[in-house]
Amino acid sequence: MPRRVAAKITGVSGYVPPRIMTNADMEKLVETDDAWIRERTGIRERHVVDKGVAASDLATAAARQLLAARNIPASDIELIVVASVTPDMMFPATACLVQNNLGAKHAWGFDLSAACSGFLYALTVGAQFVGARTQKNALVIGSDVMTSILDYGDRTTCVLFGDGAGAVLLEPADRDDDGILDFVHEVDGSGGKFLFMPGGGSLNPASHETVDKKMHYVHQEGAQVFKFAVRHMADLACEMLQRNGYTSKDLALVVPHQANMRIIRAMQERLGVEDSKVMINIDRYGNTTAGTIPLGLRDAVEQGRLKKGDLVLLIAVGAGYTSGGVLLRWSY
Ligand SMILES: CC(C)(COP(=O)(O)OP(=O)(O)OC[C@H]1O[C@@H](n2cnc3c(N)ncnc32)[C@H](O)[C@@H]1OP(=O)(O)O)[C@@H](O)C(=O)NCCC(=O)NCCS
Repeated sequence: MPRRVAAKITGVSGYVPPRIMTNADMEKLVETDDAWIRERTGIRERHVVDKGVAASDLATAAARQLLAARNIPASDIELIVVASVTPDMMFPATACLVQNNLGAKHAWGFDLSAACSGFLYALTVGAQFVGARTQKNALVIGSDVMTSILDYGDRTTCVLFGDGAGAVLLEPADRDDDGILDFVHEVDGSGGKFLFMPGGGSLNPASHETVDKKMHYVHQEGAQVFKFAVRHMADLACEMLQRNGYTSKDLALVVPHQANMRIIRAMQERLGVEDSKVMINIDRYGNTTAGTIPLGLRDAVEQGRLKKGDLVLLIAVGAGYTSGGVLLRWSY
């Protein structure tokens, strides 16, 4: 059964830090080359923060742009949900820092951790409050500073990621054929061992030993994650389309998580959608984890690829494993 939520996206924004790190820059840090990175991942460059810039800064910048574009005072915001695996610190939550930065004095908020599926989890959670009319709006933000947890000695991970954030505003949807039509989320914790950061939590609190053993960095078995992502993104997408009585032909746009161009293309082939209906910007940003989907929506809006009434599929897989999809009718 479709899980309709009476909430719709009424604004979208994104922010990436100005400094660009190209594949040529990567070549100076680690044994890699531009051709390998482009062919195996689709990435040409990524944006990276300067020292002292954290997830809350990117999130705040994205949120400020959104509020300015919609001409909404920060004091009107009632809920802030931030998805991130690179919060400024263990606590307080990044949402509290963003609330303070914005001066959103009537908002409550919290962080949510679901790695690359984080933004879609946050979108669904925020939409529950707005759909139930217990909050009149929600600011949903995905923000990650992946460069803060990358080992620039490990070429199999450091070339993949970049820093960035995106935000959407959720408001109530009055019509049944507007806004979020359905969502699906899954967790398969058996995949946790393939993509994780072992240090700094309660199991391995930060110490000289954890730093010496590089436990504060992303550890990944890329091939395992790759296989799971291809299979799972396509399966979830098909399941959601089917149970809503649609086929891939009905889709105006798919905005997939941007982990690897080959993952996206393989998913797209299994789903049977043409290139023009798939949002891709991994070439410019790399994998920004919770940032990819709102940045994809932002770019799609800027490129005039979304219009009111379009059927849109958002789809992601991430560490955990977590996965998720949201099917919606674009509202503006
Ligand atoms: C990481 C990933 C790009 C590796 O691509 P791949 O085609 O599977 O490459 P392999 O791991 O098979 O490695 C092939 C060769 O390239 C080498 N290689 C790996 N990274 C390299 C790099 N940055 N530059 C040059 N060579 C590299 C490997 O060492 C290996 O060499 P070998 O054959 O001599 O051992 C790919 O597995 C991937 O994208 N996985 C999913 C990761 C992901 O999306 N994570 C986030 C999930 S949300």
